Amino acid sequence: MASLIIRRIDSVGLSNHERAAVTALCTQAYDEPFAPYLTDIGPGTHLLGYVRDELVAHAMWVTREFRVEGVGALRSAYIEAVATLPSAQRRGYASALLRACAPLLAEHDIALLSPSDAAFYERLGWTMWRGPLSYKAPDGGMVPTPDEEIMYLPLLRTPSPLDTLAAAEVDWRPGEVW
Ligand SMILES: CC(C)(COP(=O)(O)OP(=O)(O)OC[C@H]1O[C@@H](n2cnc3c(N)ncnc32)[C@H](O)[C@@H]1OP(=O)(O)O)[C@@H](O)C(=O)NCCC(=O)NCCS
Repeated sequence: MASLIIRRIDSVGLSNHERAAVTALCTQAYDEPFAPYLTDIGPGTHLLGYVRDELVAHAMWVTREFRVEGVGALRSAYIEAVATLPSAQRRGYASALLRACAPLLAEHDIALLSPSDAAFYERLGWTMWRGPLSYKAPDGGMVPTPDEEIMYLPLLRTPSPLDTLAAAEVDWRPGEVW
């Protein structure tokens, strides 16, 4: 693959031009307007992948509390908006961004994501969370999400062993909760 230059930047540091480029890239990759999703996801940290001066791939993470029964609250890096321009796909760019994430997550206890293609992430070391998932609603109630799937990537600070059959919960957020 042509060499990918990876740049890390917090959402607040994105220029208007860069934010527009991220939105356009994700809109093309997901084939639907992505601005509302980025609004729902909220501020986080982006990895921008450039070939020459063109933004070709993107991933980001937001920090969310992931509460695991029997373990307690883990500070998770929740990976979102993994996307590669259609014209640049299958060249290893998204894989390169995902591999670049883990060493940058020293202050997190675990990395999580909601996979569209589990096999893609499995090859990169991610594992399905098998325990029941739920979210805590704004009124404090617990809402089971049996149709949702998430995967995790252990980090240096991840408790070991970790019972991935344990029930786990996040706080509600607008849009896609998981
Ligand atoms: C999913 C997505 C991010 C993958 O991006 P990508 O940059 O094409 O990913 P990679 O090139 O690293 O890997 C994709 C595939 O190409 C293969 N590949 C990587 N380098 C390759 C190369 N040089 N030649 C041929 N194939 C290659 C990988 O093995 C992988 O195979 P798989 O399809 O069997 O999993 C991209 O398809 C996308 O943006 N999709 C739409 C948005 C989306 O669904 N995002 C994920 C949400 S969870």
